[in-house]
Amino acid sequence: MKSTSKMIDLDGSTKDSYEGKNSKKAEKFIKPLQSVLASLYAARLKSQVYHWQVHGPNFYGIHKLLEEVYKSLDQSIDDTAERIRTLGMHTVSSFSEIIQLSAPANASSDKFLSTQEMIADMQEALDRLSEKIRSTADLAEEAEDIVTVDMLTRILGTTEKFEWMVRSLRTSPKAE
Ligand SMILES: [Fe+2]
Repeated sequence: MKSTSKMIDLDGSTKDSYEGKNSKKAEKFIKPLQSVLASLYAARLKSQVYHWQVHGPNFYGIHKLLEEVYKSLDQSIDDTAERIRTLGMHTVSSFSEIIQLSAPANASSDKFLSTQEMIADMQEALDRLSEKIRSTADLAEEAEDIVTVDMLTRILGTTEKFEWMVRSLRTSPKAE
């Protein structure tokens, strides 16, 4: 059923849209949630690119771990996007929005990296992503949206676990 309630858009402005479940409360955290979605996408791209580019003696283990990361992120992306739609909002819908909203978690490198540089970059991306998910979950909790809090908590558990696994691959003294 169509409603004329005002919704927060990606740029923080309002627009007429369909009213979703709890959409009024969601205004308090929808922009950060869109940013989480964009950052999940950016991390997904990064993990698959590094899955392809990795080389060296530990190739197979790192290659398989990064495959596990991007497959898990796929599910998190879908869950987050469908939650945004359930709340009555539109999701990010273009690469330009993903680049804009994922900063600084995106921070992709245009140059070819060594395997250790890729591992360090992936770990830092997962770390920043986890921070963003945690702060968004805090906002959803303030808005008393327990479904979004539950979803983000589950995704956070996964991103933190992968952050640990990727961090454990680092051999640089700076890793600890
Ligand atoms: Fe593959």
